[in-house]
Amino acid sequence: MESSSPFRSDILRGKVALLTGGGSGIGFEISTQFGKHGASIAIMGRRSSVVQSAVSTLQSLGIPAVGFQGDVRKQEDAKRVVESTVKHFGKLDILVNAAAGNFLVSPEDLSPNGFRTVLDIDSVGTFTMCHEALKYLKKGGPGRSPSSSGGTILNISATLHYTASWYQIHVAAAKAAVDAVTRNLALEWGTDYDIRVNGIAPGPIGDTTGLSKLLPQEMDGSNRDHVPLYKVGEKWDIAMAALYISSDAGKYVNGTTMIVDGGLWLSHPRYLHKDAVKELSRTVEKRSRDAPVGVPSSKL
Ligand code: HXC
Repeated sequence: MESSSPFRSDILRGKVALLTGGGSGIGFEISTQFGKHGASIAIMGRRSSVVQSAVSTLQSLGIPAVGFQGDVRKQEDAKRVVESTVKHFGKLDILVNAAAGNFLVSPEDLSPNGFRTVLDIDSVGTFTMCHEALKYLKKGGPGRSPSSSGGTILNISATLHYTASWYQIHVAAAKAAVDAVTRNLALEWGTDYDIRVNGIAPGPIGDTTGLSKLLPQEMDGSNRDHVPLYKVGEKWDIAMAALYISSDAGKYVNGTTMIVDGGLWLSHPRYLHKDAVKELSRTVEKRSRDAPVGVPSSKL
């Protein structure tokens, strides 16, 4: 059952948002919630049928929506889709880079072309879209009223590069680059053009391609004992974070990548039960206080 939004339904009124990968998964949930909160939505995706079906669903909810087939790896597609969005809706306020590629593979089985493919989609694709959108997003750009601020960019990232992740070397490298793009553009385009640039790093989110690819049903993903909140997230959780960052609620937020993972990236298995710690800790302290200085702990 979908939760209702805690935000006012007009927080994105009058805004125009373009979302890559906006026709499915997390991207589609952001499209839907942005639309429900007043934005007009343009969706870019590689598969026409997915894009068209997403647009029809949004329109059936009364959301002004348009779709464009395109691949973020092709600069000419990025340029065409950004220009078509502005032609259709008159301006562009929010760019969401949600298109991504992923598969599980060990480094020795990953070809350089496989590595490059994911970087091309996630990292270069994100930069290319930002590059093509700049002239419309900057303060005073075409379609923007002289009094309004610059637009905003939201890059969907991940947490797996904060440490290291098995079978994800390509995605870790790609998302590390995405985070660098987020911070550098926040600094430079925030300063020069009044554009805010932020990211969201989702954890495992139910009912997504990411989860089914990274934790296929063939694998036992049922042990959530060491996950702080003991559950996977919902696409809605990411969309609410996106609404906060992309609306005026987040008007002073620039250059951050908000982690929305229930604390998962911080988590480690619990080696000792709490009751054992209670019992042991004082004993260990007393033993080390009473021991002569310089005695190695293994001898205590
Ligand atoms: C090893 C693989 C592979 C696999 C592809 N390749 N799949 N290598 N194991 N399972 C290699 C190919 O052999 C090839 O290299 C190169 O990658 C390009 O593959 P293509 O199939 O030609 O590429 P393409 O058709 O463009 O497809 C791109 C894709 C695909 C990324 C490989 O999976 C895709 O279209 N994905 C989009 C949807 C998606 O994955 N969404 C998930 C998002 S989840 P060679 O050397 O043979 O030419 C997500 C979560 C991130 O992003 C964070 C989670 C925590």
